[in-house]
Amino acid sequence: MSWARRILVHASESAWLRERASHFRFVQRASQRFLPGENLDDALSAARRLAANGVTSLITHLGERAEATAVTRDYLGILDRIHAAALPAEISVKLTQLGLDIDRDFCFANLMQLVEASSAGAAPNSVWIDMEHSTYVDATLDLHRRARQSQPNVGVCVQAYLRRTAKDVDSLVAMGATVRLVKGAYSEPPAIALEKKSDVDENFFRLSQMLLSPEARRARVRAAIATHDGAMIARISAWAASQSIPKSEIEFAMLYGIQSAEQLRLAREGYRSCVLVSYGSYWFPWYMRRLAERPANLWFVARNLFSN
Ligand code: FDA
Repeated sequence: MSWARRILVHASESAWLRERASHFRFVQRASQRFLPGENLDDALSAARRLAANGVTSLITHLGERAEATAVTRDYLGILDRIHAAALPAEISVKLTQLGLDIDRDFCFANLMQLVEASSAGAAPNSVWIDMEHSTYVDATLDLHRRARQSQPNVGVCVQAYLRRTAKDVDSLVAMGATVRLVKGAYSEPPAIALEKKSDVDENFFRLSQMLLSPEARRARVRAAIATHDGAMIARISAWAASQSIPKSEIEFAMLYGIQSAEQLRLAREGYRSCVLVSYGSYWFPWYMRRLAERPANLWFVARNLFSN
């Protein structure tokens, strides 16, 4: 991990910096590139615009650290709005927001409320579970597995930078799971995470192959390949074509505001294209992780500082 990336990932974890920096207008303006706004209406409008172009949405709320019961209620409200508007949208949640640090069973009960509400709509869809720091991976996979035992419409994210992930993907493929593959956005020690970007990329490709393998497709795995890496998308698409996998069975996912033209191109060409739309007032840590992924984005922040 480069020094710039390391600093930005640490910045994303600093409450002191969040308190101060998120009040600066130029930081707020720069963040708007990746966030349609602070309100649910802003996120739903973005989802509607994407849907008009054949792109589905994944909505996540970057709220203040609230009580888990309140967060669950908040997501139930989001699901109501998605169902009422018949939007092709799903939700993505962090288990720590649903009470994972307090009690695993309490968190599970909150998760199940969302999974059940999500399956009750006219067009049942999945609740996605984000993957957080490596210390949460076992608990996250455990709660995902328990949830799947009663409802199939729950998906989980796995991170290609973790050395353990091929083994986790093996188990997820065997259960025919719904899986989002990402490279990974947190700071992790080399004992458990690959350090070189080229190694992470290679593992990402290998894991994509596992998730699109004949065995995975027979087990009805739904795989969302979440990356903005154009070369990787081209490599996976070319490999999938060589295996005669129809484009309609390949799902790519990206973040709102990043590679927007590519999101539309993929949908136009017949792939499933999905965009994670984040909204809310607690955007600073999330935004810092986006800067860490591409420190060149800092120029955009700097431009906003001098643009007024
Ligand atoms: P990579 O970092 O390899 O960069 C390749 C190219 O993509 C760059 O050269 C640039 O062109 C473009 N790019 C990448 N990031 C950019 C940015 N921020 N701004 C502008 N351009 C950028 N992580 C996690 O740990 N847990 C999770 O639950 C999730 N969930 C999730 C959902 C979805 C839908 C996505 C797309 C991503 C996540 N992530 C995540 C984040 C993920 O782990 C990873 O940090 C980012 O996707 C960046 O890696 P890439 O593979 O996109 O590109």
